[in-house]
Amino acid sequence: MFESISVGGKGKSEVLVLGVFQPSAAKDRPALDRQTASMDPSGAASDALKRPEAGGEAGSVIEAYVGKALKSGHSRVWILGLGKKENFKADVLRTAMGNLGRRIAAAKVTSVDIEILPLCAAARVDATTAGVAVGEGLGLIGWVCDDFRGTGGKKPERRKLTVRSESERFSTAIDKGLALAESTNFTRTLSQTPPNIATTGFMAECARQLAKECGLAFKIFEEDALVREKFEGLINVGKASENKPCMVRLEYKPRGAAKNAKPIVLVGKTMTYDTGGLSLKINNGMVGMKRDKDGGCAVLGAMHAIATIIKPRVPVVALLSIAENSISDEAYRPDDVITYRNGVTVEVTNTDAEGRLVLADALCWACEKENPAAIIDLATLTGGVVVALGSTFCGMFCEDDRLRGKVEGAAGIAGERVWRLPMHEEYRELMKSPVADILNSNPNRKAHPIQGAAFLSYFVKDNIPWCHLDIAGVHVSESNKGCYIDGPTGWGVRTLANLVDQW
Ligand code: BES
Ligand code: MN
Ligand code: ZN
Repeated sequence: MFESISVGGKGKSEVLVLGVFQPSAAKDRPALDRQTASMDPSGAASDALKRPEAGGEAGSVIEAYVGKALKSGHSRVWILGLGKKENFKADVLRTAMGNLGRRIAAAKVTSVDIEILPLCAAARVDATTAGVAVGEGLGLIGWVCDDFRGTGGKKPERRKLTVRSESERFSTAIDKGLALAESTNFTRTLSQTPPNIATTGFMAECARQLAKECGLAFKIFEEDALVREKFEGLINVGKASENKPCMVRLEYKPRGAAKNAKPIVLVGKTMTYDTGGLSLKINNGMVGMKRDKDGGCAVLGAMHAIATIIKPRVPVVALLSIAENSISDEAYRPDDVITYRNGVTVEVTNTDAEGRLVLADALCWACEKENPAAIIDLATLTGGVVVALGSTFCGMFCEDDRLRGKVEGAAGIAGERVWRLPMHEEYRELMKSPVADILNSNPNRKAHPIQGAAFLSYFVKDNIPWCHLDIAGVHVSESNKGCYIDGPTGWGVRTLANLVDQW
């Protein structure tokens, strides 16, 4: 939507954006608070609020003045509705920024002054929290990906946008929010990249580049190394594709960290394409499966944010299980039995339940080699979670109360929603195989998303806090709503960054 967005220093902006709350009672008219009224140079904003269409609804934008530059230097004044004061929180602001951003782009405006802090203060949202939400909202709505457009259409016009505010604290926070959005947008562009370009090798190369730019340690296991390390899930799932599977490990080491400091380990399912394998996906079930790599893409975006913005004191390790689930005479099959590095044997009943097979490698490795403080995995694991929670909540499995609290807190700050789904020994029993230890999918089709989590639990040591996030419903948006457009959301980048930040 914008070519770029930056926070400007002193200087004049074209548009002044003031905020207003929607009155609690339907009979009342919205009005500017005293402090905001003192910033309304011509009184135009107060007058505009008398118009019937000015209701202060969250995300509504009313043009109060357009004309000759006012004393304040602005040539336009807009009123941004922030909804009812009692409902106001950072997430309302983030979402409202989606509409403001659309309006800015439509009006071809290139500089805005956002002066809404009096309202934030009145609703007890501090300037930093508000600023981050504003930066995130504008940055997220600003995402575009024209990389795959050619000469067959017109490229949309895009402008540079400068955002200003009177408050230094607010401006600094907007800048941080914009940076977090940029990490998220990096993930969204990767998600958008088609599977003929974003091959397994491409994803590994992308991780290598990121590591180089951000000063992360990088290691890749491919071919012989996969065999040596018994990454049997990757080897089997990836067998049929010309694009060879690999495991990528990134590490963020804080300065002066203790040698034995336990890292947070982030694991991402990175299936560059999921045809279902020999249990082939039917009808339209395959379209969109380029996004089956979005768990890994989110982990990469989070590592970018962690290395460049958060710079936490805790070490962070990222593990990406990268493969393409394809078909050929060399494909792994239903009925195959796979033996993992922790000794657990798996009978394959369905080659389309491939994500859990490659994640298992990373989970085993993490438990055995990384001495993790906690493991969080992100995966577009099941269609079942989409049926259960739609695109509104991410399915969360976490039996460790402390870690779950932290993940919920981090997601809350990001405006990303998680909903706990249950785990129980009975679900783990559902995964028992008559032939091997466990099945990769019970054909009775009960509790699909939970089966996925139950399967993964066989690869995590009991004493290690672990959280599995099934992002199959939330990694992509089907509508132009809030600060997202129809396309990838980069879900998880900011939740993970916040989690590490708050550790
Ligand atoms: N990648 C899919 C899950 C998925 C479905 C992601 C829809 C995004 C949108 C996963 O590998 C898969 O195929 N899951 C199967 C599992 C089943 C065969 C046990 C599913 O959910 O149908
Ligand atoms: Mn699948
Ligand atoms: Zn998949």
